[in-house]
Amino acid sequence: MTIKRLDVRNFRNLQEVTLEPGPAINLIEGPNGSGKTSLLEAIHVAGVGRSFLTHHRQLLIRQGCPEATVFVIRQDQDREERTGVRFSAGGEWEFRRDGERINTRAALAQGKPLAVITPESHALVEGGPKERRSFLDWGLFHVEQDFLEVWRRYQRALRQRNACLAQGAEEASAWTPMLCEAGTRVDGGRRAWVERVAAELGQSPLLGSLPGGVHLWYERGWIKEHSLAEALERDTERDRRDGLTHSGPHRGDMKIRIDDHPASDVLSRGQEKLLVCGLWLAQLVLVREITARAPIVLLDDLPSELDERNRCLLLEALVALGAQVFVTTTDRSLTPTPFSGSRLFHVEQGCITTVV
Ligand SMILES: Nc1ncnc2c1ncn2[C@@H]1O[C@H](COP(=O)(O)OP(=O)(O)O)[C@@H](O)[C@H]1O
Ligand SMILES: [Mg+2]
Repeated sequence: MTIKRLDVRNFRNLQEVTLEPGPAINLIEGPNGSGKTSLLEAIHVAGVGRSFLTHHRQLLIRQGCPEATVFVIRQDQDREERTGVRFSAGGEWEFRRDGERINTRAALAQGKPLAVITPESHALVEGGPKERRSFLDWGLFHVEQDFLEVWRRYQRALRQRNACLAQGAEEASAWTPMLCEAGTRVDGGRRAWVERVAAELGQSPLLGSLPGGVHLWYERGWIKEHSLAEALERDTERDRRDGLTHSGPHRGDMKIRIDDHPASDVLSRGQEKLLVCGLWLAQLVLVREITARAPIVLLDDLPSELDERNRCLLLEALVALGAQVFVTTTDRSLTPTPFSGSRLFHVEQGCITTVV
């Protein structure tokens, strides 16, 4: 489903903005501080009910205003869908689709794959395992119907078990069966998914400029060749002593190597960015293949660190996928738009004009 119209009110520095994007590439150009990233943030808020930059929603509301709203019309062939998000600093988030109240972020985001790549996305390669786990869980959320429920069950069992361990309470073991059952499923899902992402990444047009072959695999977060139940059994003393659960998918990681070296040791910043784009592209291709849903992709400050050839390759691959893409840049000459259906918008002090 592509966004056909976006109305933003009192969001960051955007007082009252309407955008009618095209179905393929939308280039958003303007000087620093004009409101480009804010526009992407507004699209993100309408898609998943939160910002990709902050959890503090008062920061998202235009200074001096009581609330912010983002309203989106999406179109899929002849079907239209209207989504509204409204929030105030003190109150709740309010999500509506076609007039009906939606109660959770997951329900808002389900079936609407939305990916965002920003200058901070390097963290996927050089940051901690948490970044990579959430990357994988994003894919699994979109391709496996019950993944979210299993993941939540695992988180609940882990929280409760850790709380008991921290208090030295015997009830900790009562949470172990649920932890094992849900944890083993999260692990299996992630392992299979990383294999598919790795296979897809192997075909990526973006990896030509990397200094070696990319190897991707999942490390599950507990001792090799043991089931989670066995690992927890072995950990009994250690878990009690430290007041926390040592083994489980909350310690899992997607390992990335270039030939025999950790990716973050051998790649330049630009190469890291390419790898991040390649990883996302691989995951988006799979989600598209499995669910038949084309994603919306937000690329904040695309030209930073990607050369022209790779910018073109990425945009071409996204267009081939049927993605609707929003790209921001301070310099439109840096971003090629030789694609049919592409549009150019200019942003200046929170006001947006359509150039073509
Ligand atoms: N809550 C807010 N109310 C008003 N202005 C804001 C708010 N939050 C951020 N801004 C301002 O909005 C402007 C646009 O920011 P941003 O979208 O990040 O710019 P760009 O990406 O174009 O460089 C900045 O000048 C920033 O200070
Ligand atoms: Mg910006």
